[in-house]
Amino acid sequence: MKHLIDIKDLSVKEIDDLIEVAKDIINHRDNYSHKCDGKKLATLFFEPSTRTRLSFEAAMMELGGNVLGFSEASSSSVSKGETVADTIQVVGCYADIIAMRHPKEGAPYVASVKSTVPIINAGDGGHNHPTQTLTDLLTIKCEKGRLDNLTIGLCGDLKFGRTVHSLITAMARYNNIKIVLISPDELKLPEYVKKEVLEKNNIEYVETKDIEEYMSELDILYMTRVQKERFFNEADYIRLKDYYILNKDKLKVAKNDLCIMHPLPRVNEISTDVDDDPRACYFKQANYGKYIRMALILKLLEVK
Ligand code: NCD
Repeated sequence: MKHLIDIKDLSVKEIDDLIEVAKDIINHRDNYSHKCDGKKLATLFFEPSTRTRLSFEAAMMELGGNVLGFSEASSSSVSKGETVADTIQVVGCYADIIAMRHPKEGAPYVASVKSTVPIINAGDGGHNHPTQTLTDLLTIKCEKGRLDNLTIGLCGDLKFGRTVHSLITAMARYNNIKIVLISPDELKLPEYVKKEVLEKNNIEYVETKDIEEYMSELDILYMTRVQKERFFNEADYIRLKDYYILNKDKLKVAKNDLCIMHPLPRVNEISTDVDDDPRACYFKQANYGKYIRMALILKLLEVK
């Protein structure tokens, strides 16, 4: 049985196959509407979510399956003191596959060890978010036509932003990727990601505080929200939350075919005046999320 806990649980070939299936789903929706008849997906969200949970649920519904679950820990027996391991063993009796989000790094891994059904990590603390990365890869493939030969700027909260950690891990396996890390000193990419991913794979990267410094060289600009819920101290959050605000003016020197991405939710880091720029891809990106999750559910349930 296969789980998706870390993006590296999938080989490059498996990711390419998922992208191809997702594209086929986009073009031939009707062919997939009964693929998961009689199957159930449980979404166990111990942390807030809009896109991830709803796109998983919509994905399963579009495949003909059903969904059950909870969207906050307080409405489950976790509030009575149940462990993740116990919850998972029980939910495995009611569902064929589980997508879970948890504030503790590593919780989905712990769940996968005990689970009798496939577990999908839908975000674990400030660690990883592999299905957002699959969404991002499908977006890049569809919008840029390739996953190699790209200069990618990642901007904002690179310390706590789990989507950034998983995306860098995924991109490090493609050829000729250059990474521009744009953050204030306090929110720099963790050392373990730099050492274990960027340096180990000989990925060319630079760090800067200035969003405009490398703007003209970027093929992708991946904006992120400052992760308020991971701060220990509110004053630090308030000081850093508006460090970057992307607006039309800052994009003047950017390439015409730049792809502006954001996993969403956005707070202030992209001004709404950018939304009608043809280079803004973040709402399309949210749409791609449903299709890649459909492809992932099919794969993990081994549906042909
Ligand atoms: C992201 C997350 O949960 O990590 N959201 C998402 O899943 N699309 C990004 C964020 O919350 O900032």
